Amino acid sequence: MDNVTIFTHPLIQHKISTLRMVETGTKQFRELVEEIATLMGYEVFRDLPLEELDIETPICKTKAPFIAGKKLAIVPILRAGLGMVNGICNLVPSAKIGHIGLYRDPETHEPHEYYCKLPDSMDQREAIVVDPMLATGGSAEAAITFIKNRGCKSIKFLCIIAAPDGVERLHKAHPDVHIYCGHLDDHLNENCYIVPGLGDAGDRIFGTK
Ligand code: PRP
Ligand code: URA
Repeated sequence: MDNVTIFTHPLIQHKISTLRMVETGTKQFRELVEEIATLMGYEVFRDLPLEELDIETPICKTKAPFIAGKKLAIVPILRAGLGMVNGICNLVPSAKIGHIGLYRDPETHEPHEYYCKLPDSMDQREAIVVDPMLATGGSAEAAITFIKNRGCKSIKFLCIIAAPDGVERLHKAHPDVHIYCGHLDDHLNENCYIVPGLGDAGDRIFGTK
């Protein structure tokens, strides 16, 4: 499938394996989600445009490449996406941050919106939507539809673990959106949880149940 990147980097794989473990506690879980987001972000921002600016080193005047001030919006899907925000902002500290609140109906597994606040001028920004889990794909599909409705034309989606169903649904609904997955898992269970997965990402990040 074009427009889908599945990461294979050993550091990312090692950290995701630790994340999955039932004995990994809240503190370590949060730290790992942030670290994985930073490592994945390194690849996601590979195509940021550069511009040559004049600088002076202790040796001489020269031209040097700098990020060309592209307008970025990081958009976590609440709640679990919040865990990835600092990891991405470590790389692009001046990015604006939007929030989309969605929860999955426990019966239908379809997303319900409860909050949406996005930065201004979304039509001039590149949006990086972050959520650790892409299960059925309903939440990501809905979040990206909100963002497109605000005029945004350049969107990437970043998740740590994806199920094949979610990748397929999201790609079908938004084929223009590049999907980045830390790991592609096997399937969804009868409750639409990812198998083997890591359980409920929001509960594990925030220590709720
Ligand atoms: C989880 C997860 C995604 C969604 C993925 O959120 O963080 O947003 O489920 O499932 P989907 O691909 O089938 O839509 P959840 O609804 O549990 O809310 P939470 O983050 O507040 O716990
Ligand atoms: N949401 C989660 O947090 N985990 C899953 O496995 C599926 C949806």
